[in-house]
Amino acid sequence: MQESNKTRVLFVCLGNICRSPLAEVVVRSVAEQRGLQQYHFESAGTGDWHVGGSADPRAAAKASEYGLDLSSHRAQQITARNVEQWDWFIAMDSANKNDLLRMGVPESRLLLMRQFENPSNIPDVPDPYYDGGLDGFEDAYLMLMENAEELLDYLEQQS
Ligand code: 4NP
Repeated sequence: MQESNKTRVLFVCLGNICRSPLAEVVVRSVAEQRGLQQYHFESAGTGDWHVGGSADPRAAAKASEYGLDLSSHRAQQITARNVEQWDWFIAMDSANKNDLLRMGVPESRLLLMRQFENPSNIPDVPDPYYDGGLDGFEDAYLMLMENAEELLDYLEQQS
């Protein structure tokens, strides 16, 4: 499928070096396993601290432990100026969601990564950057895997 016809999906966290890059490679790999070719996946942070930088080494190590590759990841920022480039925004936590709403992202194109797990009380993908330790990255990976199929099911239903 031509790149210009693809549905553009952006995973969003704060720094774009831990959670959203992992989400991007996890969901891309599940989509590939399902033979879904109509999606273009990227990730971005609401903050600019790490723009141009690599994924956190703990996230990269967790990805490679599960056969995924974050070595070419470079952090980017989502701002009010580039929201038009995306069809769907998948926020890792409610703070990311609120930041995106403030940028003018329509609620109809904005999902939370864990919203299918418990729709009445949606949990965050907790930020493992400061005190998550290696367990925090394992937990994040498992949460992402657990929600990838239902996220893709939902996107499929909308297309
Ligand atoms: P992320 O984690 O949002 O999952 O990428 C963070 C990475 C860096 C910072 C905060 C969260 N930071 O403040 O630099």
